[in-house]
Amino acid sequence: MSNRPRLSLHDPGIPLTRGPLMQFADDPIACMRRLNSEHGDLAVLEENDQRLVFVFSPDLNREVLSNSQVYESRFFAVRGNRNSAQRRVTSGLLSQNGAEHRDARRMMKDVFSKKILPDYHPTICQLASELTDSWTIGKSVDLNSEMVQFMLKMTAALLFGVDDAEFAYRLGALIDRWVHRNHEIGMGALVSSPTFARGYDDLLVQAEELEQSVQEMFQTHRGTQHNRLNILSLLFEAQKSQEQLTDNKLIGHATLLFAAAHLTTAHTFSWTLFLLSQHPEVLRKLQAELIRNVSGDVPGLEELDRLPYLDAVIKESMRVLPASSYSQRVAVEPTSLGPVRMNPGTPVIFSQYITHHRADLFEDPDRFIPERWATITPSPYEYLPFGAGPRMCIGAPLAMAEIRTALTVMLKRFNFQIKPMSTVNGHVISTMLGPTSTIPATLLPHDQLPQSTPVAGSIHNLIRLPDAVREIPVPIAA
Ligand code: HEM
Repeated sequence: MSNRPRLSLHDPGIPLTRGPLMQFADDPIACMRRLNSEHGDLAVLEENDQRLVFVFSPDLNREVLSNSQVYESRFFAVRGNRNSAQRRVTSGLLSQNGAEHRDARRMMKDVFSKKILPDYHPTICQLASELTDSWTIGKSVDLNSEMVQFMLKMTAALLFGVDDAEFAYRLGALIDRWVHRNHEIGMGALVSSPTFARGYDDLLVQAEELEQSVQEMFQTHRGTQHNRLNILSLLFEAQKSQEQLTDNKLIGHATLLFAAAHLTTAHTFSWTLFLLSQHPEVLRKLQAELIRNVSGDVPGLEELDRLPYLDAVIKESMRVLPASSYSQRVAVEPTSLGPVRMNPGTPVIFSQYITHHRADLFEDPDRFIPERWATITPSPYEYLPFGAGPRMCIGAPLAMAEIRTALTVMLKRFNFQIKPMSTVNGHVISTMLGPTSTIPATLLPHDQLPQSTPVAGSIHNLIRLPDAVREIPVPIAA
């Protein structure tokens, strides 16, 4: 390929590691940790003439993320032909750059603004209450699948005004299958795996099925009277004054919003409940705050403003186990980062996980310590669970409202005892760090604290759990 990035091997001081790029595809976090410990803030991984550039420091995060003219987003490696379903379903914000991206963000600004959040509150409370109504003390649950199903229903309701759980699960399954296939092909292309083109035809068929499902949902939505606020109604409303906002464009936005919203938030819930269950002293403080400041089973909006320890717990959970663990840009013009010169086409990767685990920014960085937030105020490029700069997550305020509200509803009624000796694995799939195993738990009443319990699994490679919990650590892949 002619536009492959080329660094002169004679450039002095390049923080270069030569080795298979597949190591990044296999275990992104282990690979980035190794590069970070070998080279520090900036690293280049090279195989043959293919290179990946990694930035790990707040300053370099800023340089890459704030300069969207030089570093563009190319989230989907395969865009498909001009008139294909794949082109349409990949045409949301993450594929847009320049003026097109800026205009689309502007068009969606009101839909996601903090002003409108109170209008989503009743739906969040209703669905969280339905979830806790389905639980009983002593019941065994898998926190991972509970949270994924909960967020599929929540996302279908808030984005599309759809109450039908079966539709939410079906759309979720279609999107997950398609996201996985995009990821396999995209990651394969990034690391030059010879097998990356396999599955291309499958991807195009999956994109058609997905698009058909979104189109059917549009039709049903237009034929239905909606009595609760949802984002699609607002986007249809915006269509009336913006003729360039065609249905084809909305298909791209709707698909991306659903894909970006449900698993990231579900993983954040699963990790937060797991961490709280394994840190009973933190949970004790949090329960005390909830008892003090929330009078009923469901929090009022003004009560949510009086929960500083809940905020610290969520921030800390998203610091140690960020659902978005890394993301990538592509340099679109010749440029350099420190001694590393790059040609157009060079992929540049930044990582929330690595930045959040820097000991110079966060003391004892691998431990879950919500108390630290009483004394630290990291900059947007030191702490970036929602990204930073012009592409920062547009759904962040909504996600935070969902997490703060629904966690309160869950914890007002229940605590969770993790089953001893369970295997809890966490891995990155398509940039998202989530549980890749079940998280088996028993439901306890809210006034009975769980005990930290030993667990096995790759979770021990990601965070440092309390001593009582450490068990059978799996070695970080060589
Ligand atoms: C805890 C939940 C969430 C996390 C951790 C998260 C994380 C992120 C991150 C890190 C980015 C930036 C990616 C980059 O710079 O390459 C992003 C972008 C985005 N997120 Fe989220 N997100 C969450 C929830 C949501 C929700 C609820 C929605 C929508 C309802 C959403 C919609 C988007 C969209 C559309 C973008 C692309 C923005 C752009 O390129 O301009 N996200 N998200």
